[in-house]
Amino acid sequence: MAVIAAFAGSAIGLGNIWRFPYLVGENGGAAFILIYVVFTLVLSLPIFLAESAIGRGSQVNCRAAVSFLVPGRAGRWFGFLMVLTPLWLLSYYSVVGGWSMDYLIRALSLEFIHSTPDQLAGNFERFISHPWMPMLFHLSFLGMAAAVVAFGVKSGIEKFCKWSIPTLFVLIVLIAVYSLTLPGANRGVEYLMKPDFSKVTAHTFIDALGQSFFSLSLGTGIIITYSSYIKKGENLMVAGVGTAVSDLTFALLAGFAIIPAVFSAGIEPGAGPTLIFDTLPFIFSNLAQQMPFLSAVVAILFFAAIFIAALTSAISLLEVGVAYLTEEKEMSRGRACALLFVLCGAFGTLCSLSFGPLSRVRLLGLNLFDFADSAASNVFMVLGSLISVILAGWVMPRSELFRELTNGGTLRANARLFPAARFLLQYVTPIGILTLILSSML
Ligand code: PHE
Repeated sequence: MAVIAAFAGSAIGLGNIWRFPYLVGENGGAAFILIYVVFTLVLSLPIFLAESAIGRGSQVNCRAAVSFLVPGRAGRWFGFLMVLTPLWLLSYYSVVGGWSMDYLIRALSLEFIHSTPDQLAGNFERFISHPWMPMLFHLSFLGMAAAVVAFGVKSGIEKFCKWSIPTLFVLIVLIAVYSLTLPGANRGVEYLMKPDFSKVTAHTFIDALGQSFFSLSLGTGIIITYSSYIKKGENLMVAGVGTAVSDLTFALLAGFAIIPAVFSAGIEPGAGPTLIFDTLPFIFSNLAQQMPFLSAVVAILFFAAIFIAALTSAISLLEVGVAYLTEEKEMSRGRACALLFVLCGAFGTLCSLSFGPLSRVRLLGLNLFDFADSAASNVFMVLGSLISVILAGWVMPRSELFRELTNGGTLRANARLFPAARFLLQYVTPIGILTLILSSML
């Protein structure tokens, strides 16, 4: 349980609550969910096993683990990709972290309770297009993550996370139940349950794959790093399945909490990254008409839990780069944090401004934020994951993979499943990923 909790702590975050619902909305609902669930079980789970076997087998940081399997220049490049991806991701992740911080403050000031749903409409767009407010929140959020990593108070945060994730879970169930009772919610439920395959394109597949990797923190070196701390007696297959299932459950619950309310409020489901920030205030302000106290409490707890879930993920993202700089470049922890704060802060600021003053700047037709997000999840994480499965399936000796996944053959059920797992790892996952990459390019 402790191992699953640690993995789930990294996996569960803005990916489930913020990213999943808006991708469901952009990609037509149920069909996307179905593809996402299948990808998670057939493609992402083997990658999770691959990364955890590499991590526990090598017992060193992710760059060193990769270089260990692939000596020389190629290994250095792969390792570098695994250090760069989390930093790239952190830059815009902390923009959304900043948004959650602003919304926590609004919940604390009872804004959602004292306004009607109509008064709240358009609030979020005004906030993110403001020239400096969202930037300030982004930098404060990133600064907090950097301070935690620099001062090494990580264990405190981890303790915090032990209650925040279960709290978030309970709250999201409550919100989903409430959301289902809103007028017009049934259209949202239909949207989530009745697949419309006519909306499915090659892009839907690559979005579903990217989301699955994003949500399980794959291809970023984080699972490798975490696994290097796992004891030899733990069951990696059970940890992988447990993490994937809890992550999936969390995402689906978030879907049921948000999408019915989106329909009830008449919000456009394909609104993109702003979707939950438009929808949640609507839910809370609606609830406040009957039960203001309950609504205020739930809103505060909910945004606090999102903020903490985002902060813990941000800390793990920063930790990879800090470990690299302190171990390989002999930098002090404080300096490494300061340097990465400046780099990620600058890049994230550009992403943040892309909803306001820089909205005209487009790369491949996307604003900077969307470009950073799709490059991270649909390109970098996909590449990182591909490298991980190839390393575990083809480079790591079979006997070593067997030893890690079955604890030297002592776990009978795992030993029986091993040939199937290795087949998935060696053939199904890499071929599946390559096919998806190629089809999205055509
Ligand atoms: N999985 C996290 C989430 O869902 C994001 C993340 C990705 C964290 C990669 C670490 C590494 O929010």
